[in-house]
Amino acid sequence: MPEGRQVTARVAGLGVVLPERVLTNADFERMVDTSDAWIVARTGIRERHVVGTEESLATLAVTAGGRALADAGVEPEAVDLLILATATPEQPIPATAAIIQPQLGVRNAVCFDLSAACSGFLYALNVARQFIAAGEAATAMVIGAETLSRYTDYTDRATCILFGDGAVAVVLQRAPAGEGILETAWHTDGSYSDFISMPGGGSKYPPNVKRHIDERLPFIKMRGNETFKVAVRALTDVSQEVLEKAGMGVEAVDLFVPHQANKRIIDAVAERIGLPPEKVFVNLERVGNTSAASIPLALADARNAGLLRRGDLVLAAAFGGGLTWAAMLIRW
Ligand code: ACO
Repeated sequence: MPEGRQVTARVAGLGVVLPERVLTNADFERMVDTSDAWIVARTGIRERHVVGTEESLATLAVTAGGRALADAGVEPEAVDLLILATATPEQPIPATAAIIQPQLGVRNAVCFDLSAACSGFLYALNVARQFIAAGEAATAMVIGAETLSRYTDYTDRATCILFGDGAVAVVLQRAPAGEGILETAWHTDGSYSDFISMPGGGSKYPPNVKRHIDERLPFIKMRGNETFKVAVRALTDVSQEVLEKAGMGVEAVDLFVPHQANKRIIDAVAERIGLPPEKVFVNLERVGNTSAASIPLALADARNAGLLRRGDLVLAAAFGGGLTWAAMLIRW
């Protein structure tokens, strides 16, 4: 067993928040040249939750974090580390994790954000696991949260129908090897960085230049069809890689929890890795693609539906902007 694998981390509590406001496919039929039939057939999505004017990334993350602490029965002062995975932070400076620290009461935690788009939650879980395994933290909180609607171009029919908002927090605690997070595989290939991007809003095309707004640069752009093909291959490969690293066969998996971007991607990956539909969890119909919140939202929904029981082996796999991709095996 490699150094640092004697101790791992397990999920001790989960907290979820979805904004109340819902955008249905019928709403998009009124906004752009699309149809409910096209969206359902090409993506599987029917509804997504989006933040209202009084909400922001921080308000969602604080609510989710508080619920996770209550679910775990952990006092906020016991949290040593807070990682917030997001592509849509509250503001560039400071990190949203720092902004929410006082409201969550996690005053002893070192707090930072992690940017890996839709793979952000699995990246952050793996970073937190290593802090715990190294003895740097006993209790950690990881939050996957997004307000993608704030950066969605609602005139672009190819992207606007995909995204939703939400936040999910987990509390992680030390666990003996064999429980909790068993194995991770993670990758980045920046040569595809223009496949999913938001070119404006950063230091190259700052948001304080009107021309950048007029050219619609601070909006999410995606080369959808090319992304689709890379996503199927990368998710398949990384799922097989993590099983191989753990010395397990696909038949050991009780539940596959993939990133909820597109039902056709999920079906293609499940078929390639040899998982029957009853072992594949899908909730994108009701929430769309919530990026860093997607995997934990699916875990929470699966748990609430009674599909995730203690001791089950979960295979989670994510793919997103970067390009980034990752898979994780969790003994729930
Ligand atoms: N309604 C109707 N027609 C549409 C719509 C729409 N909402 N969107 C696109 N079309 C049209 C296109 O204009 C095109 O028309 P044309 O043939 O006349 O040019 C046609 O549909 C086919 O377009 P494609 O882009 O080839 O459609 P595709 O089947 O690939 O579906 C989609 C598009 C849903 C975006 C798909 O490519 C996809 O899901 N890609 C991967 C997304 C993903 O996994 N992203 C990673 C995570 S995102 C992140 O990290 C934030």
